[in-house]
Amino acid sequence: MKYTLVTGASGGIGEALVKKLAARQHNLVLVARNAEKLAKITKELQEQHGVQAAYIAADLAKPDAAFQIFAETQKHGWEIDILVNNAGIGSGGEFATLSLQSELDLLQLNNASLLAVTHLFLQPMRERKRGTIINIASMAAFMPVPYMATYAASKAFVRSFTQALTQECIPCNIHVMLFAPGLTKTNFNESAGINNEKGVGLSSDYQTAATQTPEDVADELLQALDANKQFKISGSRNRLGARLATLLPNAMITRVMANSYRKKLGQSN
Ligand SMILES: NC(=O)c1ccc[n+]([C@@H]2O[C@H](COP(=O)([O-])OP(=O)(O)OC[C@H]3O[C@@H](n4cnc5c(N)ncnc54)[C@H](OP(=O)(O)O)[C@@H]3O)[C@@H](O)[C@H]2O)c1
Repeated sequence: MKYTLVTGASGGIGEALVKKLAARQHNLVLVARNAEKLAKITKELQEQHGVQAAYIAADLAKPDAAFQIFAETQKHGWEIDILVNNAGIGSGGEFATLSLQSELDLLQLNNASLLAVTHLFLQPMRERKRGTIINIASMAAFMPVPYMATYAASKAFVRSFTQALTQECIPCNIHVMLFAPGLTKTNFNESAGINNEKGVGLSSDYQTAATQTPEDVADELLQALDANKQFKISGSRNRLGARLATLLPNAMITRVMANSYRKKLGQSN
């Protein structure tokens, strides 16, 4: 039986997405760390939409998680036809002052595990000559972001890796899509430890910055999937912002951002 596997499905964009996919009668495998939340959502999906839904509790900041997830799907005979690599975490503040271990965990989750999960699930998709892989990037994938240096670099990796893979997978009839949300009202800032002060400095304070809801973002993702897109940015303002970012030199963008952050935090430039 065909399944869609979504990482980071216990909250935010991932949760909104699995609910909309279930309404479209997708059978689902939900992945995240919080087993209690996953069990609750899985039960709701089964009861409300009559689909098959299961979950795997795994910490993708650990190097063996991708192998654990793949082995579990193989054990149950779940055929993963659509894979959505959505789980991700942010970090913000002056790089030198951040916990090195947290930054390394971020890279494991946002990049190494995404790569490993993709590699593992690509093999059966190649044999079947069918499948879809959707990788979630960010607006931060389009420019270096001072005071969010590691996160932005991790999303630039996701963008580059995914866009290259899109072309490699065409002969095997596997659709690979890069999807980039902008600022979205989720638990993201809190998980990233971007407290209000840092959030304001980074212009990512949900109270003041223009944001989409996770449901808006999930709708745009599904529209892009239906249209067989290889690349989609969520939100018209974000699409304009990404275009502007490609026109301006990175050195100028980063200087303005760094000065603005320090000014908002009352630091001297
Ligand atoms: N919100 C935004 O403004 C925004 C903007 C651009 C891009 N994005 C991207 O969108 C994606 C989803 O973010 P979101 O806003 O929905 O964030 P969120 O509300 O914080 O949700 C993150 C999801 O990832 C899971 N997760 C976190 N760490 C994990 C780990 N170590 N192992 C397994 N699962 C883990 C969380 O579940 P558990 O805690 O249960 O593990 C949760 O289900 C991320 O890739 C993010 O970079 C978000």
